[in-house]
Order: sequence, then C-alpha cells, then structure tokens
Amino acid sequence: MIKKELIEQIKSEADIVQIIGEYLPLKPAGKNYRALCPFHLEKTPSFYVSPEKQIYHCFGCGASGSVITFIMEYEKISFPDAVKKLASKLGIKIETESIPYENRHLYEACEFAAQYYTQCLNKSPTAVNYLKERKIADEIIEQFRLGYAPRSNALYNYAKKENFSIEALVEAGLIVKKNSEYYDWFYNRIVFPIFSPAGRVVGFSARTIEENVDPKYINTAESAIFKKREILYGFFQAKNSLYKTVPILVEGNFDVLTLVQNNFKSAIAPLGTALSSNHALLLRRYSNKIKIAFDGDQAGINAAIRAIETLLSVNIEPTIVMLPQDYDPDRFVKTYGKEKFQELLDKSYDYIDFIRYIMSSKEALTELLRLTALIEDPLFQEESINKISQIFNITKETLLNKIRTNKTPIKKPDNSQSPWKIQSILRLERQILSLALSDPQYLQIIRNELPEVLVNNENIKEILQVLYNNLANGILAYNIIDQINNPELKNLFAELVIENQPKLSLDEFKLKFYEYKIYKLQEQISKAEANRNNQLAITLAKELFETKKKVNEIRSKNYDK
Ligand code: UTP
Ligand code: MN
Repeated sequence: MIKKELIEQIKSEADIVQIIGEYLPLKPAGKNYRALCPFHLEKTPSFYVSPEKQIYHCFGCGASGSVITFIMEYEKISFPDAVKKLASKLGIKIETESIPYENRHLYEACEFAAQYYTQCLNKSPTAVNYLKERKIADEIIEQFRLGYAPRSNALYNYAKKENFSIEALVEAGLIVKKNSEYYDWFYNRIVFPIFSPAGRVVGFSARTIEENVDPKYINTAESAIFKKREILYGFFQAKNSLYKTVPILVEGNFDVLTLVQNNFKSAIAPLGTALSSNHALLLRRYSNKIKIAFDGDQAGINAAIRAIETLLSVNIEPTIVMLPQDYDPDRFVKTYGKEKFQELLDKSYDYIDFIRYIMSSKEALTELLRLTALIEDPLFQEESINKISQIFNITKETLLNKIRTNKTPIKKPDNSQSPWKIQSILRLERQILSLALSDPQYLQIIRNELPEVLVNNENIKEILQVLYNNLANGILAYNIIDQINNPELKNLFAELVIENQPKLSLDEFKLKFYEYKIYKLQEQISKAEANRNNQLAITLAKELFETKKKVNEIRSKNYDK
C-alpha cells in the first residue's frame, strides 16, 4: 500500500501543467491551459488544465481529475502504477513491494503462465524448430516473450505442483473447466503473450504448430484485464517508436514479429478482429497517419476498407500498402527483403487512390463519397474533396452536396461518452460553490450559515459534504477530486473548480451568498406553507428576516465608506 500522505506529497510536488504538457501540446487560455481532449474526439479544444487548482477537466466529455488520474487514464495503467510513474518522474523513491491493485490475481495468472510457457519452449525442440523455420530471431522470441504450450495438461499440472491458484488461471482463460474436470486451453501451440500498453501480460494468442488444425489461432477469452477492442498486438513493444515512425497496421502476429525483426518497429496488429475505434483512438495519440499493410487477398482488401472507415472517422489519414496477391508482410519481407518492403511503404496509396485501384470508376465514386463523409476534420475533408473533384472532374460544390445529402451517420468511437448531463443548478448556486472552492473562508461561511434543509439538490449536498470533510486540510482540489467516485459529480466539481470567477471581497461574497440564501429560504417557505408545515415555515421566515437584516448591514456599512 502506498501511504496516503506519500501520495499527497507526490501530488503536491507535481506540476500538472508540466506533466500533462509532456503528453499533450498545451496552449495558454486565460489562467488555464487548453488542448484537444485525448479522451474523446473533437475539433476544437475543450480540455482544460488549471495550474492554480492542479486539476484537468474536459467540458466535452467530462473527463476530469488530478495529475494521477490523468496518467492512469492516458497510459491505461492502474492507480498504484500511475503513482509510481509520477514519483519516478519527480525522483521520489517509493518502495514498490506488495502494492495491492485491482485484478492482481489475473495479472499474476497471466505472468505465471507466460513464464511457464517460455520455459516449455526451451524444452521443446519441435517448437524451437518451428520458430527457426519461420526465421524468428532469438531477440524477438525474447522481446515478445514467445512460448510453447505442450500437449498434455501441462499448465494445469504445473500450477498444481506449484500450488498456484487454478481458479485464477480459469478466470484468465488459460484453463477451462468441463464436467468438473480441468483442461489446458492451449496445447501444442506457439504462445504469444499479449501485453497491456504498460507492458503487463494480460492475455494470450496461440498458433498451432501442426498443419491443418482448425482454428489456426486461438486466444484466451476476454477478462477484466483483457479487452480485444482495446489492445493491439505489438503495441507495447512499438510504443516508443510510434512518436517517430508512422504505425504500420498488419493482420497477423507473425507479420508483427517479422517486421519488428527487420527494423520496422512500429508494426502492430489487432487480435484477429477488425480494427476498433478504441484501437484507432489509442494510435491517434501518437500519430495522425497510419499505414495499412494487410494481406494481398480479397479478405485483406475488405479488412482494409473497414479499417479505413474507422480511421477516417477519427481523422487519421490512412495510406494502404499494396502487397501482391497471396502475400502478407511476413512472407513478402522473407521473400523480397526489407528494402523492397520499404519501397512499398514509401509508395503506399492514399485511400482515394486505393479505392480507385480496387474498384471500377463508378463504384469508386460512390464508395469515396461514403468514406469522405466520415471525415470530421474540415481541412482533411476539403483536401480529399479537392482530389476527388479533380480526378472525377466534378465540381467541389456538387461533391459537397452529395456528401451532405447521403451523409451516413458518423460512427462514434465505442467509448465516446455522451456529455454528462448536469443536474441543472442555479447560476448563483454555481457561482457561490465555485467561489467557495477558491477560498476556505467562503466555504466556512456557507458551512456556518447555510442550513441543510435549504440544499435540496443531491449533487450539491454531496459536494458540500466532501468539501466540509476536507476543510481542515485546506480545500485542495486535486486531492478532493480523487475522493469523488460518482462521475457526474466529479464532472460538476471539476467544472466549478475550473470556472473563472471574479475575485470578490468577503462582503461581496456574503452579499451573493445571502442573495442565494434568501432565494432558497423563500422557496422552502412556500413549500412548507403548501404542506401546512407551519412550524417550519415560521422558523424559516425568522431566518429570512435575519438574513435580510444582514444584507442591509453590509449594504449600509459599505455605503458609509
Ligand atoms: P492469418 O491467417 O493471416 O495469420 O490471420 P498469419 O499470422 O499470417 O498466420 P501464419 O502463422 O503466418 O500462417 C491473421 C490473424 O488473424 C487471427 C490471428 O490473430 C492472426 O494473426 N486469426 C487467424 C485468428 O484469430 N484465428 C484463425 O484461425 C486465424
Ligand atoms: Mn497472414
């Protein structure tokens, strides 16, 4: 467990602008900084970072939190890992032993199996020979931690012997239970561990080494830590080169291995599924271009069209590498060499030329209009329309009209949350809360003078409670935001923190606060009267009288000056 005090120390030493600035280009905007939100699609920046409050907030999708939440969300790593990462950036030492984290048993099961399978590979001449025949170098075997699953119930027996949790291995999809008997999911297969973006083994893919075994590849089932739509094979190994080199999207695991081995380090592949919008968004953090190098057969072409759709709709510019029929990148590089593959990469087709290449002219136009309509970025779309206009000799206006009329609904990424609906609160209420967040003095006034019966909005009630609990330690937004679990509330809190509020004197604040209180009192008095709750109505009426008196005092005091 990392101590709470240490976490707070780490957070207090970090500068959120500097840390987030390492990930995103931040531009000053008033007293905040702004960027395109990395967590949802957008054309104009609505992602704000507050140096003063040390939190970030996106007004578009509601993502918000402290510097640690940002690292977690961006790197897709756990809270303790994010703390560790931040600490190491700041040069703060923390003991890393025995940090409990979510789904620890699954990570451990995957790691246990990965280690076991690599041991088995070294003991199996057949498996070693298979990889040799496919010309996979030892460094690649090591880097990708390739392994071998033997024939028998080897993993199960080994786990029993080592006293390792069978249940965890079952949950990780490595062992299956059938009629109260346990079986290894993989047997006689080359095993490919699948790494999370942070480098932990979270799942596996495995290829038979016998001919004519169907299916050729199988994966472990999805689990709490293994989501195929979010993970790409080779992503962890490629991560550092993705900033410098355009990602090369391939279909197969062996394509990844062979390309990386031949120094095309940015090769990655979906896990036998279509490229998802989540995959595309993950890649877009590194590059707004992608080279698609799918198999040179009809299936590869169809898959490429689907990938193009997905990429265009997140404003990534795809280019397509045209491989000869019956070749995949693995076979191509092994047959013709890496220089020839580099040539293919260099002359890869943009999506317009690709579609024209594979379809008849009439079909191509329809398809291009459909695809171009998916592009959200106006500049990129215009560029494409210009090109189509020249090729087909159709005016831009006509093309634009066609695009607008047959506009296919734009595919939204699967994880794009609709903007959080905020329970409507009064403008005045917002102002007061927002001010209270900037100064404990203000919060103290609210605490002393705002009777609980006046707060009938559940969100506000909860926010106030969290604030009161933190009053003694100062209202540090970056600590408080991590204590709020309800996403809607977190969103509201972040908005209130980020909102620009004029600096007010204490009296000015009080006047605003009393204005609000009077409004709420009147509201509750009417309610009490309607419910014939005379007792309450009288109490509130007295309070109303007192409040008005205070307002007059402040007014006359300031008038005298
Ligand atoms: P391929 O058959 O093109 O794979 O399928 P490959 O890597 O070229 O295969 P070999 O080893 O060189 O013969 C591409 C990808 O589709 C998934 C796998 O992820 C594979 O890497 N796939 C393929 C499956 O999930 N199941 C299958 O039965 C076949
Ligand atoms: Mn292939």
